[in-house]
Amino acid sequence: TQPLRVALAGLGTVGAGVVKLLDANRDLIERRAGRGIEIVAVSARDRAKDRGVDIARFAWEDDTARLADRSDADVVVELVGGSDGPALALARATLAGGKSLVTANKAMMAHHGLELAQAAETAGAALKFEAAVAGGVPVIKGLRDGAAANRIDRVYGILNGTCNFILTKMEAEGRDFADVLAEAQALGFAEADASFDIDGVDAAHKLSILASLSFGTGPAFGDVATGGIRHVLAADIAEAAALGFKVRLVGVAEAGPHGLFQRVHAHLVPVDHPLAHVSGALNAVVAEGNFVGRLLFQGAGAGDGPTASAVVADLIDIARGEFGPPYAMPAASLSAPNAADSGDR
Ligand code: HSE
Repeated sequence: TQPLRVALAGLGTVGAGVVKLLDANRDLIERRAGRGIEIVAVSARDRAKDRGVDIARFAWEDDTARLADRSDADVVVELVGGSDGPALALARATLAGGKSLVTANKAMMAHHGLELAQAAETAGAALKFEAAVAGGVPVIKGLRDGAAANRIDRVYGILNGTCNFILTKMEAEGRDFADVLAEAQALGFAEADASFDIDGVDAAHKLSILASLSFGTGPAFGDVATGGIRHVLAADIAEAAALGFKVRLVGVAEAGPHGLFQRVHAHLVPVDHPLAHVSGALNAVVAEGNFVGRLLFQGAGAGDGPTASAVVADLIDIARGEFGPPYAMPAASLSAPNAADSGDR
């Protein structure tokens, strides 16, 4: 059997992680996928930079967009980032040309997920984005496949590792927000624009994707009421603790009588709730299904190893021929978020 041939755009932390993972676990991946997975071409800003991986064995494209046109690749992996610009151009060109797309780009999926899902469906190509939500935690597969038989009534969780790190540090050490922020950024989990983390935008991107999977709508980032943690004081956290609560940045999506309700803000979480036990840069997602009950997904929401793990899981699905619809239902049948619910339920 022919290997699955991959063109990789973006060689930052995650891109280098994907190269390392495919090298380290080559044999077991080939056994499980039923065929090899080979990177054939790469593109990034700087060819010469030392990333701790050998990229000289891959073809190089100066122009990232050209990866979509390569006749020697079956799949493009987009790890460039940003909701629009080169990432979106590459995603559109890839799907328009009939190649499958794997992306870790939550901002792009939150803003353009419906369009891309429809393009994938038209082309008969796969669109996979496990790494876009909660890093290495297989929550997309969990919802789309594992919980596929359920009506989902509510999905919520801790979706930003930077904020959770900051809040749990403030809690443990009684320090104030500004004091801990720099430490969180030094860990390398923060977005290029840290306000995306601390103002809840990154969590809202991810929540809109989870909501789309759970409720069969297109992602509607603009409908997420979004707040962050800038104004949380160490004193607020101490006060909450005295009352039996922890402070966590939580994203919640639920179906109500007036449609889908989506919001991200700092919540008081009872100390005996599973989300109260999620510390540091971890992520956790709870989904409530009408037959399965409460599901909890938890693990590393960022970092090269966990995020590469999710990217390669998507590649293994594609190598196996397991495309599946991008969302809970074929994209063409998705409608506007606030109108879709009655039909789906
Ligand atoms: N900035 C994100 C976080 C990275 O802190 O969770 C993963 O999307």
